[in-house]
Amino acid sequence: MQPVTLSRFLIEQQRLPGSSCPAELRLLIETVARTCKAINHAISKGALGDVLGSLGTENVQGEVQKKLDMIANDLLLDANEWGGHLAGMASEEMETIHPIPNRYPKGEYLLLFDPIDGSSNVDVDLSVGTIFSVLRAPEACAGRDVIEADFLQPGRDQVAAGYAIYGPQTLLVLTIGTGVYEFTLDREIGSWRLTDGPMRIPAGTREFAVNMARRRQWSPATAQWIEERLQGTEGPCGHDYNMRWTASMVADVHRILKRGGVFLYPSDHRTPGKARLRLLYEANPMSLLIEQAGGAATDGHDRIMDVLPSSLHQRVGLVLGEKEEVWSLRQASQALQSEPQQGAKIAQAAESER
Ligand code: F6P
Ligand code: MN
Repeated sequence: MQPVTLSRFLIEQQRLPGSSCPAELRLLIETVARTCKAINHAISKGALGDVLGSLGTENVQGEVQKKLDMIANDLLLDANEWGGHLAGMASEEMETIHPIPNRYPKGEYLLLFDPIDGSSNVDVDLSVGTIFSVLRAPEACAGRDVIEADFLQPGRDQVAAGYAIYGPQTLLVLTIGTGVYEFTLDREIGSWRLTDGPMRIPAGTREFAVNMARRRQWSPATAQWIEERLQGTEGPCGHDYNMRWTASMVADVHRILKRGGVFLYPSDHRTPGKARLRLLYEANPMSLLIEQAGGAATDGHDRIMDVLPSSLHQRVGLVLGEKEEVWSLRQASQALQSEPQQGAKIAQAAESER
């Protein structure tokens, strides 16, 4: 049987009755996928290409920018500016949005991206990735430049989302709302080939991904929920759990799609609104992929994709993965909220353990 390339997959999706993949979206996804090949090429040069290390600048969130953050950012901007599919772009690495310049035709989509996710891993040769999300530009912006407010749409309105992961293999994982599909980069012929899908998150994996060093920031309910898993066969779960943390969200989410488990980066319960991950560039696209693969994604309480963004670089707490695990943490949090005395007891116990 002939291999199914990304182009063929998308053309076949376009032909389906009631297709969710019009030609413009197909071309946009192909452009992003092509750029990911160029990013992969830049990353793989490593020390030989003078691409490692920091630039000495900070992004809008006060994080040190790596050389590769900006190389990837510029590759994505350059490749997607002129094709006529987009009205504008927004990136984790840029303070403001990037409307398509007037010298180019404008299209009906908005592209949002995290050019290099997990970029602290680049210098130590661990997996990193590119995350992207596609929204429709609101009708109201026809005939004018896009503005920041046009990008502040809930995740449920995404028309496509995906990531490339630059690891032992280079993969592209994509959804256009009809399931999740994985493509592997065939380096010899330079094309993406379908290697998995529709992907379903396996159940009952008993594996969690969390940065344990942030324990003091967790709510009492989250701390207790993790504690119960650490107790393994001797605790209320009755099973041993594994812990994995790559510090690269693409790698952790990819493992969950393939093998199951749950990923948590809770918000800091001591400071309202303080969280690590970005709603528009990280939480929303990953949540669409996870839900499309049968999982769930919340901010600890509410569905991520129902959160109405209030700013471009907004951060959120994030819990995603196997539905049962995500719901069980949500229920535990709700139960504690409705029993404040119990919550206070657990908070006290957690405090005395520190
Ligand atoms: O982009 C943010 C990110 O690098 C994620 O990829 C990753 O999950 C997380 O931050 C790592 O956070 P920490 O440095 O706290 O382990
Ligand atoms: Mn990131």
